[in-house]
Amino acid sequence: MSGRCCSLPGDPQPPTAVGRVLDRLETLFSIGGGPANRPGLSPAEQRAHDLAAGWMAEAGLEVAVDAAGNLVGRARGRSPELPEVWTGSHLDTVPNGGRFDGALGVVGGLEAVTAAHLRPRARTIAVVAFRDEEGWRFGQGYFGSRALCGRLRPGELDVCDASGTSIRRALASLGLPPPGLRLVGSGTQPLPGAFIELHIEQGTSLADRGLALGVVGEVVAMAGLTIRFSGERAHAGGTAMAQRRDALVAAARFVLGAHSLARSDAGWRATTGELTVHSPAGNVIADNVTVGVDARARSDESLGRLVSGLREVADASAGQGGCTWEASLAWQEPAARMSPPVSRALAAAAGQPAAGSIGATSWAGHDAAILAAAGIPAGMLFVRAGRAGVSHSPYETADAKDISVAIKTLGRALTELADGGWAEIGV
Ligand code: HGY
Ligand code: MN
Ligand code: MN
Repeated sequence: MSGRCCSLPGDPQPPTAVGRVLDRLETLFSIGGGPANRPGLSPAEQRAHDLAAGWMAEAGLEVAVDAAGNLVGRARGRSPELPEVWTGSHLDTVPNGGRFDGALGVVGGLEAVTAAHLRPRARTIAVVAFRDEEGWRFGQGYFGSRALCGRLRPGELDVCDASGTSIRRALASLGLPPPGLRLVGSGTQPLPGAFIELHIEQGTSLADRGLALGVVGEVVAMAGLTIRFSGERAHAGGTAMAQRRDALVAAARFVLGAHSLARSDAGWRATTGELTVHSPAGNVIADNVTVGVDARARSDESLGRLVSGLREVADASAGQGGCTWEASLAWQEPAARMSPPVSRALAAAAGQPAAGSIGATSWAGHDAAILAAAGIPAGMLFVRAGRAGVSHSPYETADAKDISVAIKTLGRALTELADGGWAEIGV
C-alpha cells in the first residue's frame, strides 16, 4: 500500500478538515514503519497518543491523561459544572490493522470538537482516545473505557502478554499512571454525560444501501473463550495412526465444527483467530493445544446458546480422538443499546437519508458499548466502508467525501448535545 489512501478533489489545497484528518491518519498508520501495528499499552500506541495530544493542544484544547492513560482534550463550556459531552474512540490497532479503525474517531472527533467550539457551548465538549480497545495483546479489550467505568477486574493489572509483560509493567514503561494518580477499581475520572463514537462501519450495510452515514442502534453481545485440548505426546513415526491421541487433530476438528455451528444461525458469528501448539515439533504428536474463540450474537440469550454449542463441539472434537478438553471464559461483553435521544440527535444532524438508518447493528465491539453498558447515554455514527467493508486489514478504506460529511454531522450533533436541553436523558 503506497501513498495516501484516498485522493482529495483538486489536490493541493489548503488543508481542509478532511485533508488534515487523512494526513493525520497516514501519519498514525505509518508509526513503526506501517502498516498499522499499535498494540495496546505499547510504545507505538503511546506514540499515537503523543501525536494526538499535540494535535489537541494545537487546536487549543485542554489536554489531560487519566490513570489508565486515556487521553482527553477538552473545550471548556460556559457551565463547566454540567456533565460533559464526549466523542472519541481508540488509537491502538490489531496487528497489520487499517488506517481508520479507532483513529478516525479520535482524529475526526477532534475536528468536530474544534468546529463545535468555535464559540463556547453551555457544556464542555471533549475528544477522548481510550487505551487498548482491541485487547488482543492481554486477552481482554476495552481497557481504557472499562477503567473509566470502574470495571477493571481484581488482579487484572497482573495479567501478562505472550512475552510475560504484565499490564502493570506495560503501563509503568509508558510512565502510567501519571504521577499522583492511582489505577484502582473505581473510575479513572468523572463519567461524561453523553458520548458519541465516530467509527468506520467495518461491514457493508451502508454501502449496500448507498448510504454515506449510519446511526447505530445496538452493538452485539460477545465473548472470548479459551479452549485447551489435551492428548498424548508421542513419536510421529513410531505411533500407529489408530493409537494416537492427537490434541492438534482435536483442535482442528473443533475449528471446523465451530465454523459450521456459527453458520447454522444468521444471528451468530464465531471466529477462531488464535491456535497455539505447546512445544511444537514437526515429528511430535501434539499433546497440548490452546484455541482462542471469539463468539458474537445479537442478544445475550443467543450468545449463551452459541457458547453452549461451542462447548458441545469441543466435547465431541476431543472425544472423537481420545483427548480431553477444558474451556474458560476469557471475557464477555453484553449486547448494548445506544441511547435513543443521542441517536435522534445524530439522525437530526445527519439528515436524510442517513436518519433512516437508525438502528444499524454493529457486529464490531466499541468503547461506546462499554459506556452504554455503564449507563452513559451513548451513540455511534458509522461512516461507509469501502472495499466490501474490509477492516482489521491494511486494505481498510473510506471515502474523503463521506468522512467530510461525517465530521460535519458529528460537529452538529455535539453542538446540539452541548447546548440543547436534554430533559429526556436528564443531562
Ligand atoms: O473486536 C472488535 O469488534 C473490536 O474491533 N474491538
Ligand atoms: Mn477493531
Ligand atoms: Mn474500533
